[in-house]
Amino acid sequence: MKEALPLVWEALQVKVDRMIEQLGDKSPHVAKEDGIYDDMRHDWWTSGFWPGILWIMHEMTGKDHYKKAAWSWDEKFEKKMIEANNYHHDVGFQFLPTAIIKYKLTGDQDGKRRGLFAANFLTGRFNLAGQFLRAWNQEKIGWSIVDSSMNLSLLFWAAQESADPRFEHVGKAHADTVVEHFIREDGSVNHILSFDPRSGELIESLGGQGAGPHSSWSRGQAWALHGMANTYRYTGDTKYLHAARRVAHYFLACLPEDHVAHWDFRADESLEGLPRDTSAATCAASGLLELADALPPVEGALYRRAAERILLSLTQNYATWDQPEHEAILRGGTGNLPAGQNIDVSLIYGDYYYVEAIAKLLGWKNRIF
Ligand code: GLY
Repeated sequence: MKEALPLVWEALQVKVDRMIEQLGDKSPHVAKEDGIYDDMRHDWWTSGFWPGILWIMHEMTGKDHYKKAAWSWDEKFEKKMIEANNYHHDVGFQFLPTAIIKYKLTGDQDGKRRGLFAANFLTGRFNLAGQFLRAWNQEKIGWSIVDSSMNLSLLFWAAQESADPRFEHVGKAHADTVVEHFIREDGSVNHILSFDPRSGELIESLGGQGAGPHSSWSRGQAWALHGMANTYRYTGDTKYLHAARRVAHYFLACLPEDHVAHWDFRADESLEGLPRDTSAATCAASGLLELADALPPVEGALYRRAAERILLSLTQNYATWDQPEHEAILRGGTGNLPAGQNIDVSLIYGDYYYVEAIAKLLGWKNRIF
C-alpha cells in the first residue's frame, strides 16, 4: 500500500473535490447502481460522515474549500435538535465529525457548545441498572447495540473538555458492558442485546443486522474493534486494548482471499458468493491502524500490515476512480441485508473510514473518533 499512497491521495483529492460539486447540500447515505447519493434527514445517523471527510481533507491539505463545505453542518444538526427529531445513541457519529472536529481545528465555540450538548444527550441515555447506553427510541427501551462502541469517544472527549469525569464514568461503564457481554469468547460479537430496563438483567442476543442472534455481522465486529481501540486510547486501560485485539484476531481470521469482509462471517458455512461489506472493511482497517499505533512497532506491525492489505484491495478492486460520474468513493457495501436494504451499494460511512484510514497511513495524528 505504501507505494500506492501518493497516487491514492492525489486521486482522493480529485474525487472529493468533484463530490463537493455533485453533492451540493445533500446529506448522503447510500448510492445504488446509478452512483447517485441519496439525501437523508439531518438526524439520520450517517449525517456526520460527509462533513467528516471534508474536515479530514481540510486538515490534511490546509485548503479552505473543504472547510467552507464542512462549516455549517453542526449548526444544521443543532437546529434539528430543537425540533421533533429521532436522534439517539448515534449522536457521536454525528457531532464528532462536525461540531467537535470543527472546534478542535478552528477553536469555534459554537462547535464546542454543540459537542457538549450532544455528550449530555448521550449520557442521558445511560441505563444505570444495566450499565448500558440505550439504543434507538420508541419501544426499544432495554436494547443496546455494539455500534455504540464508536460513540463513546464523544463522552471521553467531553470529560476531557469539561474536566467533568461523569462523562468518562458513563463511557467506561458502557465499554465494560461491551467487553463483558457483547464480545464473545472467540472474538466475535453480538449486534443487539436486550436487557430488562428495570432490573438491568441481560435477557438475550437479538439478530439485528447480522444473519442471526449468534452470527457474526462483520460491521459489528468493526465497530467493536475500532471502538475498543479508541476507548483504550482515551482511558489507557489495557482491558480495552485486549478486547480490541481479540476482536481483531477473529476479524482477520475470517477474511477471504481479497481481504474484504463478507457481510456476516457466519451467514453460511461457505461464504462463497455472499455479499461483501466494504464499510466493515474500511472501519476495521482504520481500527487496526489505531491498534498498531497503540502498541510497540514490532507488535503493532501485524495490525498495520493487515490494514494495508485491506486498503490496497479496496483501492484496486472496489473504488470508483474510473467513474467520475459516480458520487461515492467505494462500491460493495452492505447496509442491512436481513431487511433487504442496501445490498452491494456505496455507503457514506464506508467512504469516510476509507479516507480516515488513508489519512492515518499518511501520518494524520489528529483523531475524530
Ligand atoms: N449503525 C448502524 C449500522 O452500522 O448499520
